[in-house]
Amino acid sequence: MNRTWWKEAVIYQIYPRSFMDGNGDGIGDLKGITSRLDYLKYLGIDVIWMSPVYKSPNDDNGYDISDYQEIMEDFGTMEDFDELLSAAHERGIRVVMDLVVNHTSDEHKWFAESRKSKDNAYRDYYIWREGKGADAPPNNWGSCFGGSAWEYDGETGMYYLHLFSKKQPDLNWDNPNVRREVFDMMTWWCEKGIDGFRMDVISMISKTKEMPDGEVNGRYGCFDPYCIHGPNVHAYLQEMNREVLSKYDIMTVGETAGVTTESAKQYAGENAKELNMVFQFEHVSDEGKYGKWTDERMPLTVLKKIMSRWQTELYGKAWNSLFWDNHDQPRAVSRFGDDRPQYRELSAKMLATCLHMMQGTPYIYQGEELGMTNYPFISPDEFRDIESVHAYEEWCGSGLVSHEEFWPCIAARSRDNARTPMQWEDAQEGGFTTGKPWIAVNPNYRQINAKAETKDPSSVFHYYKKLIALRKENPVIVYGKYELLLPDSEELFVYTRTGEGKKLLVVCSFADRQVPFTIPDEFAGASCLIANRGERNCGKQEIVLEPYEAFVLMVD
Ligand code: GLC
Ligand code: CA
Repeated sequence: MNRTWWKEAVIYQIYPRSFMDGNGDGIGDLKGITSRLDYLKYLGIDVIWMSPVYKSPNDDNGYDISDYQEIMEDFGTMEDFDELLSAAHERGIRVVMDLVVNHTSDEHKWFAESRKSKDNAYRDYYIWREGKGADAPPNNWGSCFGGSAWEYDGETGMYYLHLFSKKQPDLNWDNPNVRREVFDMMTWWCEKGIDGFRMDVISMISKTKEMPDGEVNGRYGCFDPYCIHGPNVHAYLQEMNREVLSKYDIMTVGETAGVTTESAKQYAGENAKELNMVFQFEHVSDEGKYGKWTDERMPLTVLKKIMSRWQTELYGKAWNSLFWDNHDQPRAVSRFGDDRPQYRELSAKMLATCLHMMQGTPYIYQGEELGMTNYPFISPDEFRDIESVHAYEEWCGSGLVSHEEFWPCIAARSRDNARTPMQWEDAQEGGFTTGKPWIAVNPNYRQINAKAETKDPSSVFHYYKKLIALRKENPVIVYGKYELLLPDSEELFVYTRTGEGKKLLVVCSFADRQVPFTIPDEFAGASCLIANRGERNCGKQEIVLEPYEAFVLMVD
């Protein structure tokens, strides 16, 4: 297995809109990020990945880009960006950009041209089709954000494809000019000195030529088989690798909806010459009666099976990325842990232990290192996210389900849970802004904030800091082989890591009650690397784990 810096790194995801407001307009910005680099340095992370900062009308908070080589006005200027990049580099922190090239904004100049006429030079940059007649789109596909995936454009009387909002038309990657423009743009950023790309929905860039109706699920048909892992996706990524990626010392991670351990080896195999790693979503894709909108939990046995399959099947063949949450998911401690006050810190530390001791590159989503929780939403007008707003309308507005029934489900899963402002201190608006924030600050900022936690050596923050440091000191954490123990336990997640002349035992209790556990013989006399409830030295083999207890033992 090759050793590389990105395998050994810990990555911190920033959602710029909600990280730190530098000028009091209520919106996070680049100057705000720069002002907090010392905090990130102190935490010990190696890389920041920023959600998109490019020019955008913000239909989907920057994931709808109208100019790839300009900075969003809300976030500042290109000078601010350059300053951030060099300030990060001075501190030894690398910067990974979000690359959103499955689609652009409908306000991008390519699309403005494309829609003008059927023979415009940019027509073929997007995916246009004739309808099936008056008011009838080319097929039944629904978009990810509700409604049809096709939008009629009166200018030329045709429909364009948008797998996300109608303000996010899909690019036509089969057009070599599109690929050339994207590669040139990427080169421009690489020449600027950025350190990598996180590639938005990159598994969707290639579509089948034939576009038949999809299997109906609710009101619309499903586009998946025709648009995910499409016929040319690997050819295009190999071309991207040849033309751009291979020329720089950068890292890449693909957001690959629908990826399996098999296809991950194609996207991110050690010798695949495509990407360095992918995000898989199996552990966050559980669904209920209303699709992704559910307040049910994935059983621990299922979660362990998924995580373990990724750990073992990619071993030595491809590289894992490890995450519990991001800007599209609810908060980790609320979803997988226990955010009741008596258990919040313990379970946040337990989850961190469980993830950071696995093989792969860990990603920390802003505020996760503080144990930030879901927001106590009480009404749909608190939502800012296009997905939540549309989903509420689609399910409740149409009478498919009652508000009472649906509310706990959408409140538990809304992406806005992750997007409330970073909680810096017990001050006005959690110290995020001196103005009025674009989305409400979680009222628990009084108890949960960076200032209090950096001062308290027993905080969730300091626990993350320690986990990050341990990964640097112990190569077994990065490169060791994973083995799951107790697969059938619904309470305990226990595994070992072996390699580099060491063996680790990782014990995590997902239960809010005591659970007996026997420490395996081979860990007699082991040292305790980290623990969330005080050290376990293995004088005793038969122990009773306290609620949400976690610890790691190491032997030579
Ligand atoms: C990705 C992003 C998400 C965005 C979508 C469309 O899934 O993570 O935030 O809405 O792509 O760009
Ligand atoms: Ca601002």
